[in-house]
Amino acid sequence: MTTSSDKIVTAIAHTNIALIKYWGKRNAEFIIPYTGSLSLTLDQFYTQTSVQFDASLDQDSVSIDDQLIDGNGWQRVHNFLNIVRQQSGITLNAQVKSENHVPTAAGLASSASAFAALAAAASRAAGMDLDLQALSRLARRGSGSACRSIFGGFVEWQRGTNDADSYAVPIETPNLNDIRIVALTVEKHHKPISSRQGMALSVTTSPYYPTWVKVVESDLQSIKSAINADDFTRFGTISELNAMRMHALTLSANPDFLYFTGDTLEAMNEVKRLRHSGIECYYTIDAGPNVKVICQKQNVAAITDTFSKMFGPEKVTVAQPGPGVKYL
Ligand code: DP6
Repeated sequence: MTTSSDKIVTAIAHTNIALIKYWGKRNAEFIIPYTGSLSLTLDQFYTQTSVQFDASLDQDSVSIDDQLIDGNGWQRVHNFLNIVRQQSGITLNAQVKSENHVPTAAGLASSASAFAALAAAASRAAGMDLDLQALSRLARRGSGSACRSIFGGFVEWQRGTNDADSYAVPIETPNLNDIRIVALTVEKHHKPISSRQGMALSVTTSPYYPTWVKVVESDLQSIKSAINADDFTRFGTISELNAMRMHALTLSANPDFLYFTGDTLEAMNEVKRLRHSGIECYYTIDAGPNVKVICQKQNVAAITDTFSKMFGPEKVTVAQPGPGVKYL
């Protein structure tokens, strides 16, 4: 009989920001997306998670930032641990301790870093030794965007068609290495609907969803060719366009929904004003009100200055490309 597996395994994963968005699943159980996506892993925001399988536990125990969690959060981690148990053959319950390292209120704590770190720590604690591709596939089962956080820098999630061929791959390139993301936390709590529910509603009710699937394929080609050519202007332009195309799917859903607030729009307009005044920058926005400004190193000071005046310096965080998953 297996008793306490004395192994406590700790892993760290950084969050990522999608430049070409993932928005819609063709298979919800395995989290197989309708389209590929492309992201940048960020250095500033990460999750550190320890896992130990332990015979003395009568159920999985999950804490985040020293708070025991229950309800939906617990259920989601428990379901994920069931996948790890199924793959590894271990039958014990697990103790999971997770810490989010996100600069105050950056609004970027996400399921991406959480499930990437959990996949790495839990699989190894269960005795598996997965390669990065298998880890990416496993992380994907927790949250789609987590499959990209296994890798550092620019990462493409190749949509595939099933559990075996849907995973992320790193785009190894020296190009665009002066890229910076200025994260603006305009509001912490505005989230009318989770990304999981929002994308499902877009898939089933937006008449434009089939067009999105087509357009993402060409957006992906364009952004990869921009990265290849080290062309920041094309890179930023296509990122901004793709984000707005995603948000058009929320406006055209039934019932419609919107992640932007007034401050989101103010920040978007300011990015455009800065751009027209010669400070090159672009915006991208996920399933929430916060705006991420895409720029290059030489313009960080001017951009942080502008937005610190607008929203307060504590709402502005600068990130650069970050690393892939690591064990401690
Ligand atoms: C807008 O990965 O959180 O950030 O797979 O349902 O867990 P689930 O969704 P999630 O969705 C991320 C949506 C997005 C775009 C992106 O990261 O590509």
